[in-house]
Amino acid sequence: MKSGYEGLEARWHDLFWEAEEAASELPLLEDFLGETQGRALYLGSGSGRLLGPLVEGGHELVGLEISDEMRELSQERFPKAEVIAGSWQEHAGRYEAIVIPAFTFQLFGDPQRQLQRLREQTSRLYLTLFFPWAELSGDLPSRKWYFDRSIILPTGETGELQSQHKINERSGSLVRKHRYVMKGKDGEVLKTQETVQKMRFFSDRALKKLFQSGGWSIDKEINNLGEGEENDLVYVATFHLRGQ
Ligand SMILES: C[S@@+](CC[C@H](N)C(=O)[O-])C[C@H]1O[C@@H](n2cnc3c(N)ncnc32)[C@H](O)[C@@H]1O
Repeated sequence: MKSGYEGLEARWHDLFWEAEEAASELPLLEDFLGETQGRALYLGSGSGRLLGPLVEGGHELVGLEISDEMRELSQERFPKAEVIAGSWQEHAGRYEAIVIPAFTFQLFGDPQRQLQRLREQTSRLYLTLFFPWAELSGDLPSRKWYFDRSIILPTGETGELQSQHKINERSGSLVRKHRYVMKGKDGEVLKTQETVQKMRFFSDRALKKLFQSGGWSIDKEINNLGEGEENDLVYVATFHLRGQ
């Protein structure tokens, strides 16, 4: 099983996050881990952009990452942060807590089974999920390529992200295609890469049922990474869950 995070998608991952105006998840993770005694697992620790500062901040946390390239980036940048290589679905272990920030959980099939399996590995779980309002409302065009965002690369070229999606509200499935395009100073295309990602998303009601059948109760729920107003649409929901 491969996650896809290779090539330009891996190398540009952090640059795109840094260019986003979204709030960081770091304070939320620190808050959750501050109440954790003992070793915790960070599932899908990627390039280490969150794992590294958490480990440097003294949290007892080990990463688990399926993409070799993401893991290498993490180890280059944060050599002190241990990262286990491999797929979580094949990983056995018991932890004080497990953290799954940045929507990684939504890449997994059979969410009910995954929540039950997580319950076998820990009794405290941190989970961040996103809800695709922009895709559902039609704000983003469906089934055709659109310009998503671009960044200036450290080497001076431009890194452009084009996206396309297909959404099925009833089944809660979102298929996103990404096209990464590297352009030279005169706009000429130097390199492209396409990736496909299938994600699940959940209505509030479906999610609460899933948590319950997975053996979890909600300790805390944080909307939109703790930013914005109370009545805003919830694009991102973070949960502290406790085993029942
Ligand atoms: C959305 S990215 C988030 C990365 C990181 N948490 C961050 O916020 O920067 C998802 C990460 O999870 C990894 N991943 C996906 N499926 C995985 C699996 N089954 N086991 C371990 N890692 C996985 C991907 O390779 C990728 O690095």
